[in-house]
Amino acid sequence: MKAFPTLLDLPIYLRSIQLTDFKIIYAPGDGIGPEVIEQSSRILAAIGDRFGHRFSGDYVPVGADSIEQFGTELTSDTIDKCLASDSVLLGACGIAGGAAVKGRHPELAVLGLRREMQLWTNLRPMKVYDSLLDASPVKRDRLEDVDMLVLRELTGGIYFAQPKERRIVDGERAAVDTLLYKESEVRRIVRRAFELAGDRRKHVTSVDKNNVLESSRFWREIAEDVASDFPDVQLEHVLVDAFAMRLVLSPRDFDVVVTKNMFGDIITDEMAVLSASLGMMPSASLGNGNKGLYEPIHGAAPDIAGTNQANPIGTILSAAMMLRLSLGLEDEAKAVESAVESALAHGFRTPDIAETKNSAVGTTEMGDVIAQNIISPPVTK
Ligand code: IPM
Ligand code: MN
Repeated sequence: MKAFPTLLDLPIYLRSIQLTDFKIIYAPGDGIGPEVIEQSSRILAAIGDRFGHRFSGDYVPVGADSIEQFGTELTSDTIDKCLASDSVLLGACGIAGGAAVKGRHPELAVLGLRREMQLWTNLRPMKVYDSLLDASPVKRDRLEDVDMLVLRELTGGIYFAQPKERRIVDGERAAVDTLLYKESEVRRIVRRAFELAGDRRKHVTSVDKNNVLESSRFWREIAEDVASDFPDVQLEHVLVDAFAMRLVLSPRDFDVVVTKNMFGDIITDEMAVLSASLGMMPSASLGNGNKGLYEPIHGAAPDIAGTNQANPIGTILSAAMMLRLSLGLEDEAKAVESAVESALAHGFRTPDIAETKNSAVGTTEMGDVIAQNIISPPVTK
């Protein structure tokens, strides 16, 4: 805007000062979910104050919380509200040991939302903050400058394909899950990986189990085919067992990684260890449009629920991804990320990333510092 707006500039000026209202659905869920969601909603409120937006949130039950109240882990009302929102921020679903609640599995709420919202891409970025280089069990010289992005296929493969059932085989009890991928499912996720790699270091690693699984041989074939449309991006195939090893030995090898649903689930927990803690890791799930589901990759951690020990950063960084990818608010996303970085650089640590228990701050205190960093210049410890 010019220093002295003319009358002609008035409509543009008025639009720029209008409050934009974003409809966010908060799905806190179980265990530490409500605590980390509470901090993230405070962070969004701080962003709203600073940048002039409103994030009008509606809360919905999911997981064990929903089973207790409504007898199902995901009600149709929750699904409808999520579908009608601009985006969804989810905490975690599940109880200790992955057990059932009243005969139902709380985790199915997450899978149901992914399927209902048709979110076939899961983005799990990972970088190691300088201030946390020594907090990871992996040696610092392997972690410096690591910056990778995993694309996990999210609505297909062994998580969803049918049949998925109990049956009798050779006269005894048996169970079956089906690992099936359709060409269109492989093609779209691999294509998205190449598109994203184009803006990064132009390297795609496709992780499969080509030496054993027919579905992996198929995946590799399609990946090769997609790669021919992106001559300036390099494609490397790595078997999942070898990848598990290389991820620890030389994580700098990887830029964009694309893989199927279950491999993606497993390797991203391993990747989180490099970043110092599962509590640090955000994720975004997207489909064809802008609407997304954002959640930390950690679970409900019932053992520490309600004790103010959970690390809210994974969820707060998920909210940052939501600002960037679903709401188109890049500056706001950067403001959240630098507020987190500065809190860490000033030594604030939740117990999962602290050197000693005594030096740790709680969930709410971490939220306080990050919110404060958004509203005004960083505070020091
Ligand atoms: C994840 C979780 C979920 C998954 C569970 C809770 C269903 O582990 O998002 O990584 O397996 O996808
Ligand atoms: Mn997982």
